[in-house]
Amino acid sequence: MRELIRVDGVSQYYKKGNFFSKAPLNVALEKVSFSLFENRNLGILGRNGAGKSSLVRILLGLEKPKSGQVRMFFDKKQERRLIQAVFQDPQSSLNPRWSARKCLLEGLENFKMLKNPKDQSEELAELVGLPKDSLDKKSFEFSGGEQQRINLARVLALQPRVLILDEALSNLDVHLQMKMIEMLKSLQKQLSITYLVISHDLRIILQLCEDVLLLRDGKVVFKTNKQEGIYNAILRDSKGDSAGYFNEFYQASFWHLR
Ligand SMILES: Nc1ncnc2c1ncn2[C@@H]1O[C@H](COP(=O)(O)OP(=O)(O)OP(=O)(O)O)[C@@H](O)[C@H]1O
Ligand SMILES: [Mg+2]
Repeated sequence: MRELIRVDGVSQYYKKGNFFSKAPLNVALEKVSFSLFENRNLGILGRNGAGKSSLVRILLGLEKPKSGQVRMFFDKKQERRLIQAVFQDPQSSLNPRWSARKCLLEGLENFKMLKNPKDQSEELAELVGLPKDSLDKKSFEFSGGEQQRINLARVLALQPRVLILDEALSNLDVHLQMKMIEMLKSLQKQLSITYLVISHDLRIILQLCEDVLLLRDGKVVFKTNKQEGIYNAILRDSKGDSAGYFNEFYQASFWHLR
């Protein structure tokens, strides 16, 4: 297995209040370690405030951790292009006044990868199933689900090795979630991208990921994988605290089946 990213003892703290505040530091991540392997999608599960997005900002290089390190085992010079992310709110990454085409091509332009705008934008639209003749509509004219496809296509354009999905499917209805999951699986086969799936929905993680990591209060409390199976993992840790916590996610994600 080829290792793509190694997170080694990463801790992150934030100050509460202003610069002069004497309030205790807010611990967002505490000695978090894990590896991401090529073509083994990793799911990171955790409740609100568990530290998931803090981890994403560190992986994207937007923040430096207070301690520990992140190593990427791919072309250092191309790092900013090779790890990309799609976030929960589709509108937050799209300029509402721009056409879908301009949104799709923005990254390519930034990285000087724009050659033939018409062909490239149409190819990208096709990749995520957006009608080619809709590309001149403004991005605000698309539905939330369509906007999320635009977001996906605009980062796929950069041919990333790793794609972080930070609650990227959370705002979509279950039917669209299912469609997007199928699409992500087929894109993975075509483009050989490894996904890091951040979610508080265990169902989404189980459908996309080989490995699962559970974060609570900034700490890794549990790691498991598809081979072991979720049930076995719960049994394995049935006396430990983490099992109860994992079980809660299980119950919450599948409550409708009971
Ligand atoms: N810029 C910041 N300044 C101060 N505290 C922060 C900052 N960013 C995050 N935190 C705190 O760090 C902790 C982890 O936050 P984070 O956003 O990483 O959680 P999350 O797991 O992504 O949650 P959610 O599921 O709600 O998106 C929280 O206690 C949060 O209040
Ligand atoms: Mg978050």
